Amino acid sequence: MLLRFLLPWMLCFACVSSAAPQAPFATRLSCGARQNVQTRATNTLWHEDIGYTGGIAANATRPSYITPPLRTLRYFPLSEGPQNCYIVDRVPKGHYSVRIFFGLVGRVRDGNEPLFDISIEGTQIYSLKSGWIHQDDQVFAEALVFLTNDSVSICFHSTGHGDPAILSIEILQIDDKAYIVPEFSQGIILRTVKRLSCGYGQSKFDVDYGGDPWGGDRFWQRVKSFGQDYETDQPRSVETMIKHASHSPNYYPETLYQSALVSTNSQPDLTYTLEVDPNRNYSVWLHFAEIDNSVTAAGQRVFDIIINGDLTFKNVDIVELSGDLYTALVLNTTVTVNGRILTITLKPKKGNLAIINAIEILEAIMAESKTISDEVRALQTLKKALGLPPRFGWNGDPCVPQKHPWSGVDCQLDKSSGSWVIDGLGLDNQGLKGFLPDAISRLLNLQILNLSRNNIHGAIPFSLGTLTGLQVLDLSYNVFGGSIPETLGQLTSLKRLNLNSNLLSGKVPATLGGRLLYRTSFNFTDNAGLCGIPGLPTCGTHLSAGGKISIGIGASFTFLLLITCSVCWWKRRQNILRARQIAARAAPYAKARTHFSRDIQMTKHHNNYGKTHTAAENGPILLS
Ligand SMILES: *[C@@H]1O[C@H](CO)[C@@H](O)[C@H](O)[C@H]1NC(C)=O
Ligand SMILES: *[C@@H]1O[C@H](CO)[C@@H](O)[C@H](O)[C@H]1NC(C)=O
Ligand SMILES: *[C@@H]1O[C@H](CO)[C@@H](O)[C@H](O)[C@H]1NC(C)=O
Ligand SMILES: *[C@@H]1O[C@H](CO)[C@@H](O)[C@H](O)[C@H]1NC(C)=O
Ligand SMILES: *[C@@H]1O[C@H](CO)[C@@H](O)[C@H](O)[C@H]1NC(C)=O
Ligand SMILES: *[C@@H]1O[C@H](CO)[C@@H](O)[C@H](O)[C@H]1NC(C)=O
Repeated sequence: MLLRFLLPWMLCFACVSSAAPQAPFATRLSCGARQNVQTRATNTLWHEDIGYTGGIAANATRPSYITPPLRTLRYFPLSEGPQNCYIVDRVPKGHYSVRIFFGLVGRVRDGNEPLFDISIEGTQIYSLKSGWIHQDDQVFAEALVFLTNDSVSICFHSTGHGDPAILSIEILQIDDKAYIVPEFSQGIILRTVKRLSCGYGQSKFDVDYGGDPWGGDRFWQRVKSFGQDYETDQPRSVETMIKHASHSPNYYPETLYQSALVSTNSQPDLTYTLEVDPNRNYSVWLHFAEIDNSVTAAGQRVFDIIINGDLTFKNVDIVELSGDLYTALVLNTTVTVNGRILTITLKPKKGNLAIINAIEILEAIMAESKTISDEVRALQTLKKALGLPPRFGWNGDPCVPQKHPWSGVDCQLDKSSGSWVIDGLGLDNQGLKGFLPDAISRLLNLQILNLSRNNIHGAIPFSLGTLTGLQVLDLSYNVFGGSIPETLGQLTSLKRLNLNSNLLSGKVPATLGGRLLYRTSFNFTDNAGLCGIPGLPTCGTHLSAGGKISIGIGASFTFLLLITCSVCWWKRRQNILRARQIAARAAPYAKARTHFSRDIQMTKHHNNYGKTHTAAENGPILLS
């Protein structure tokens, strides 16, 4: 099902924010909530999602202390379809941080954590990993995405491991240039993998609240040590003001730079290792500020930064690069990781120690192309007309994420438009009871259509003839009625045409009949009365009910007329003959009579043929 969010207040919010450019657009949704909710500490307003349909609202169990204190969630059982979406409208064009918190239906325990996939605007951004309920920074998914179309679709895809359960959705505007580096275009979505605040401090969201709202409210996980103990590194913290911390485009909180990890003499290298998904690109942001009082000037702490064995930054001198002590320095780089490990090593020059304040790792995901919107609308019309059961879950985009296409839909990337198109539809054997709507003709790239073995009724749409790329048309074993539209003769690419076991009647179109004999394999058997091509009865012996009646009436009328005329003629002739017989007394009576009856039968037969032919050419009489 498609979940719609249309609240007039949002429009107002948009006008306010355009009048006062300081305030970024922000909307927060409490899933399953029947009324707006205000949460304490941060005084955050969460909106009800009563405008949405589908899914089931339930009381929420929050898996982590960082999960917002909301009481409800919405979960999506598989019986409602494998994918379910929130479409949030009236989101002004811009750059956004979209964050989704997961909830649990019932108690927090191993085995009841659902595992599912999440997509934003058709691009899969995340797959939940087993054990997420035990890791605070995995109880939500977050991605930075450009929204250009006044709305955003966020979909949840079942993977067969429990029902997706969503606690909240946040859509927070951030700076247009936030986290953007030269090699990224707008076609890149950045998913938050890790945000570490090194040294002392608490794991929390709130640090960003104190800063600039354009920062987007990030979660910083505190890490006291990269090692198992304090032998390799030690935390440091200060309360001194930090220069250049919170500014465009990323607006980092100052507290991020007020604590750090410093390596020890016994282990001068500082190494952070993170397990990641292989064969992905990661954007790495490293934060520094010289807050250790053992360093008082440039040149006293110099180190190299090595990421997965590559020397990424050489001779980093924080004081020199940032311009002063207690001044923020941010370095960013993008790395392709082939294996499962991302290792960042700070290697100091002889006699120095390494220091680091914070690390951010984001996955750079190429945004997916979408499906041509006219074809999406056509499929939605089909979904209704054919009466697709909810388990099909035709929600979101039909072709993307590529891992979760709509069931029964085959897609192809159209090189010229850069969009996805539908080239196959296989809804055979699904117990469908609806009809095939005209909208099918808007799937202009369709090559295969298999609706075999359902209970689809109604006529075969005329417009089907416009799908000239169609190679396979299988409508067999349904209850299609009426005649085969003449337009199917335009399907010049057709290789297979199965219309057997339906209630079709009338003449197979001449255009189709001619070509079928050569190139297309076909099956027309077991219908209500098709005729006109070799292998089928000749037309006239098997006609539709209406056709039979009209021809029956016509034939009887002709028969009567003939009899009347013949009788008149015969009587006249008899009179003449009698007159002659009286004179001649010759030729037996019985013989003349035999001749006459055979004459009548032959005439009737011929006449019938002529009539059928005319009726078929004029069409409508047989289309009843
Ligand atoms: C949710 O919790 C409230 C009380 O907190 C209770 O009244 C309600 O019945 C619960 N709903 C469900 C579906 O369990
Ligand atoms: C945005 O909307 C326009 C018109 O509604 C449409 O043509 C375009 O394809 C949409 N773009 C995306 C990325 O959805
Ligand atoms: C990673 O980046 C490289 C170069 O920018 C690109 O060719 C490649 O497709 C990207 N890989 C993924 C998985 O996005
Ligand atoms: C990221 O690093 C590149 C050089 O690698 C630099 O040009 C760019 O300004 C940096 N971006 C930010 C926001 O610091
Ligand atoms: C259509 O689907 C049915 C199964 O439901 C299959 O037997 C048939 O071969 C398919 N038709 C074509 C032309 O592939
Ligand atoms: C044609 O259709 C009939 C009835 O639906 C079926 O029994 C027969 O096997 C089909 N023939 C071929 C060649 O598929």
